[in-house]
Amino acid sequence: MPEGSIEVAVKLDMSLGESPVWSVERQTLYWADINNGHVYAWQPQVGGTPTRTELGEKVGCLALADSGLVAAAASGILRLPENGEPERLADNPEWQQAGQGNRFNDGRCDAAGRLWVGTIASDEASPTAALYCLDRGELTRRLPNVRISNGLAFSPDRRWLYHTDSLSRRILRYPFDVDSGTLGEGETWVDLERLELPGVPDGAAVDREGCYWSALYDGGRIVRFSPAGELVAEHPVPCPHPTMVAFGGPDLRTLYITTATQHLAAEGKARWPLAGSLLQMRTGVTGLAEPGFGG
Ligand code: BGC
Ligand code: CA
Repeated sequence: MPEGSIEVAVKLDMSLGESPVWSVERQTLYWADINNGHVYAWQPQVGGTPTRTELGEKVGCLALADSGLVAAAASGILRLPENGEPERLADNPEWQQAGQGNRFNDGRCDAAGRLWVGTIASDEASPTAALYCLDRGELTRRLPNVRISNGLAFSPDRRWLYHTDSLSRRILRYPFDVDSGTLGEGETWVDLERLELPGVPDGAAVDREGCYWSALYDGGRIVRFSPAGELVAEHPVPCPHPTMVAFGGPDLRTLYITTATQHLAAEGKARWPLAGSLLQMRTGVTGLAEPGFGG
């Protein structure tokens, strides 16, 4: 596969592929189909069909854990052991009994093993969602007044936390203290409007050089920003709705890209046959090993 060319890794018909996460230890890529509540696991060196587990509710994002995974499902955060029953770690405070509330969405662990995870307003419009942090069993609200929490990532030196409320079309960064888990005052770091970029910032991954790779949902491309927030590369994707990226593979140089079909009508699906699949692109840079959940 030549560097920079995007091809299909696993042909799928997902509604909302999301949250790819690579385990160096297991040489396994995990990802979710949020809308169908599916969790996928796949070893590219082994190839073949990925395994698919049904969670029975929507699942916003995944994180690595000692044994298995942690999943931010719609109603709460679950530990999914490799063998055994899911264990509930925290309830989603925005999820009502009737199941009509705001579900969990994008998230990832920091280097200290805390899980940072946001919610998405059920109408995808009102500022009723938030970013939360699960730290040693306690879930606290850290950034309120969000509509669609996305793009959570950290700089390699751990000094910055990146986050976006997708509909704002801006990515913010917050001074971050990994020892205490505290955030300073946020500032606009990237403004898609100013850069004349289409779509909204969705999920992201940071590489070893500290650059931030962002999937532009409804923008049909992956963009790479320098630590200074400058646009340094643009990679068109063969579908309008890439959702998130993750570095993986034995050398951490393959960028895996999840995609969605949820906003495509029949014509759109016919025009973009790779929408809903897991895509991949070889890159000239190396990713960072994803920290796991520490309880
Ligand atoms: C959400 C989708 C949303 C997309 C673009 C994703 O993180 O799960 O529901 O459409 O972001 O904002
Ligand atoms: Ca997302």
